[in-house]
Amino acid sequence: MELFQNKVVLAPMVRISTLPTRIIAREYGANLCFSPETVSYSIINSNLQHNSELDCWDLIQNKDKKSNLLFRTCKEDPDVIFQIAAPDAEKALKAAEVISPVVAAIDLNCGCPKKFSTKGEMGAALLKKPEVIADIISTLKRNINKPITCKIRILNTDKETVELVQMIEKAGANALTVHGRMVHERPREKAHWDRIKTVVENVQIPVIANGSVSSFDDIELIKNQTKASSVMIGKAAQDNVSVFRKEGLLNSYSVAKRYVQIAKKWNYPPKNVNFFLVKLFTNHSDSLKVNKIISQSKNLNDLFDYFNSQNDIIDNQEKIIRKREKNEENENNNENINIDENLEEKKRFKND
Ligand SMILES: Cc1cc2nc3c(=O)[nH]c(=O)nc-3n(C[C@H](O)[C@H](O)[C@H](O)COP(=O)(O)O)c2cc1C
Repeated sequence: MELFQNKVVLAPMVRISTLPTRIIAREYGANLCFSPETVSYSIINSNLQHNSELDCWDLIQNKDKKSNLLFRTCKEDPDVIFQIAAPDAEKALKAAEVISPVVAAIDLNCGCPKKFSTKGEMGAALLKKPEVIADIISTLKRNINKPITCKIRILNTDKETVELVQMIEKAGANALTVHGRMVHERPREKAHWDRIKTVVENVQIPVIANGSVSSFDDIELIKNQTKASSVMIGKAAQDNVSVFRKEGLLNSYSVAKRYVQIAKKWNYPPKNVNFFLVKLFTNHSDSLKVNKIISQSKNLNDLFDYFNSQNDIIDNQEKIIRKREKNEENENNNENINIDENLEEKKRFKND
């Protein structure tokens, strides 16, 4: 299916892959984005509403007299893949019926190892019950008029993994994301790209390869090694979403400035914006300073003003550095010219 072919994909990430991140990821070069997982019972207890002020669609959960924005999408967020976490076909279908009118496809999370998911028989817990995965997918396929996909982790052996993915394909999935780590493996451990290749060799549907893609150059590498149609990036996009740029990473301040601008336009909840920014500056030498600013800021306007002023400083610093480098380059060229001229002089002298 074309929607999943030859794409560079933003991974589903709780609190990260929200609307502002999906928009900025697309600006930098991602051409398919997943939403963070949303649990079926939250979706079932929510309302999908058109927000006429912003011209977007909101999924709003009303709980304890509070309104909670679970998901927002708009024209600038085309073809978004909405990920659900569900323990069975009945709940998955009820959830998909609510959200499917405004998204491009529904994805089933079969990989989250967090207690919260597995205790509720969702996420990675489903990997132990392939027949439930197949039931959920075939039920969604029969009743929802949108592509249905699935995101799994590899199992302990290739044989088990191949059996699982063939079952998923037979149930009607239109594409499959394979996170090349087993449930017990931690994010710092290298994903098994060779084992994703085995999956690609054993199914006909498009496979999105995921795991350990930490730079733009890794996209070609994992494609070559796995022969997968598409590539998904998680943590590296959380660390700096400009990883999708073929021209190279931008500094964290530039990314923050643009991100806050987008978040402000879409009136995003400050707690989500702050989480993204803290992650963006985690390994930055200014992380303490920026964290303090983030925690003290009262609203998005404060953050917007801060990153605007910082970015001007950084832009100026970068301009000075570039100017210095250019001057040095010119000086070197002049020296070369002088050397060449001397050579010419010497040659002439010799000839004379
Ligand atoms: C902060 C964070 C949140 C995540 N949330 C989800 C999620 O909602 N659904 C999901 O399927 N995977 C989730 N993941 C896993 C990623 O989608 C991805 O499979 C994993 O990070 C491996 O890719 P990577 O090596 O590029 O990071 C999350 C990962 C991170 C770092």
